[in-house]
Amino acid sequence: YNVPFPLNEPVNPYIPGDSATESLLAKYKEMYNQAPIDVPMYIGGKEVRTEDKRPMSPPHDHQKVLGHFNYGGAEHVHAAIDAALAAKAEWSALPWEHRASIFLKAADLLAGPFRDKMNAATMLGQSKNVMQAEIDAACEMIDFLKFNVAYMQQIYAEQPESSDGVWNRLEYRPLEGFTFAITPFNFTAIAANLPASMAMMGNTVVWKPAESQVYSAQVIMELFKEAGVPDGVINMITVDGPVAGDIVFKHRDFAGLHFTGSTGVFKHLWKEIGANLEVYRTYPRIVGETGGKDFVVAHRSAHPKQVATAISRGAFEFQGQKCSAASRAYLPSNIAQEVLDYVVEDVNSFKMGSTEDPSNFINAVIDEKAFDKIAGYIDFINNADDAKVLAGGKYDKSKGYFIEPTVVVTENPKFKTMCEEIFGPVITIYVYDENKFEETCHLVDETSDYALTGCIFSQDRYAINTGMKILENAAGNFYINDKPTGAVVGQQPFGGARGSGTNDKAGSYLNLLRWVSPRTIKETF
Ligand code: NAD
Ligand code: ALA
Repeated sequence: YNVPFPLNEPVNPYIPGDSATESLLAKYKEMYNQAPIDVPMYIGGKEVRTEDKRPMSPPHDHQKVLGHFNYGGAEHVHAAIDAALAAKAEWSALPWEHRASIFLKAADLLAGPFRDKMNAATMLGQSKNVMQAEIDAACEMIDFLKFNVAYMQQIYAEQPESSDGVWNRLEYRPLEGFTFAITPFNFTAIAANLPASMAMMGNTVVWKPAESQVYSAQVIMELFKEAGVPDGVINMITVDGPVAGDIVFKHRDFAGLHFTGSTGVFKHLWKEIGANLEVYRTYPRIVGETGGKDFVVAHRSAHPKQVATAISRGAFEFQGQKCSAASRAYLPSNIAQEVLDYVVEDVNSFKMGSTEDPSNFINAVIDEKAFDKIAGYIDFINNADDAKVLAGGKYDKSKGYFIEPTVVVTENPKFKTMCEEIFGPVITIYVYDENKFEETCHLVDETSDYALTGCIFSQDRYAINTGMKILENAAGNFYINDKPTGAVVGQQPFGGARGSGTNDKAGSYLNLLRWVSPRTIKETF
């Protein structure tokens, strides 16, 4: 490598009372108490404000108004597209090393002066506790920026064979037109990475973040500006998704969609793009990383405590709102009770509350809509004959959107919550006859409409091999004796197939390759 060799950003342990923790919590308090902020849209480098101000509140403290964000309409979508197209020629003509330098500088700024602000905005706006914010908004975002620069160099260096009198070259051109990034609320790093990865490869971008992530989205735009991303290269608009889609997907110069979010929305967008194929100058690239129903399968040889930890951590970090979160588990009868006892003990020890107190492992779910949906599932479970709640099961939205981490067992392996994505702190567990491991793996595969993450626990190599084979298409990220969350950029490229997406592996050269349209050049001497 010519570019600085990337190493994963070390996770700051935030030990209570140390200077890093004090500094972060002071920033959090300052941002909580500051005068209401007014988050603009960013179009062509200008801050754009409107009359339509929408409130922003911490999910764990929804009466508190942190400020407002400016909501736009059709004219802002048109303006963002125009700004992206206007910036394209100069940006794409810039030698790649200059683009790389800008994003490496962004990584350094985030590792330094921006770290507290990015983490605090994520803790306040998305209700992540200190550690969940740190591994996402700081470490994962820094890793995306640095590793993608290394992959850029790898891609540009890859050239075809030449021969005497003939020189063959591949020119990795950006896509023709502008690109569109749509991002979810649950990872600040993903929100930054989707527009940044397309921009790195020479594209200019219209970016629509989730409304519930706008606080940290603003900090991302400040970071990019400070690092030197030129005006118009990344344009952030806060508008209604369908309004934006209706304009972008009917534009002749629309060149690619980089989406992360739910399966239903992605399918809808793909259909919209398909319906407009005749409008486009070129086939748009479509990348979507979507939902999951991620599994834990234990074999009778598994260590009970290891399985229990995978369940309680994998299911309940960030209130189960990770696409990778464990949400169904299959336990063999010989160790099931021991595993369940450990899980219940662990879950009952979790403290729940505001992100201001770092000892709260559980915080609030993102908003009222998510709260009502998850509470509806818990009500369904409470009324079912073939499932029972072992821990948690209560919810309260009087101060914040709090839902207890909820552990459910069912006798029905096709029970509703064994199959549907809830996207909240609920895991459903099925106990199988310890002699039916193979049949159980087949059952897991058959009930996997999604294929994002999954894990298998066993001390028996033959069982691991059998499980991996049967489940070969059921998870894009497969873990052996580890929980299904916490993929690290550069180590476990992330993404899934089936209903979970196009599996273009965020944080890898595979993803970056989707954002170029190479020209092959043959020169004869
Ligand atoms: P969501 O689908 O509700 O929203 C995602 C984005 O799409 C938001 O910006 C939203 O405003 C926008 N959107 C919604 N409808 C739209 C429309 N008709 N046109 C244009 N844009 C539209 O998802 P969410 O609640 O923000 O995130 C949670 C979902 O994301 C879960 O399903 C989770 O599994 C998934 N997710 C997947 C991954 C992955 O890597 N596979 C990572 C994170 C989240
Ligand atoms: N990196 C995140 C995880 O694997 C998506 O949980």
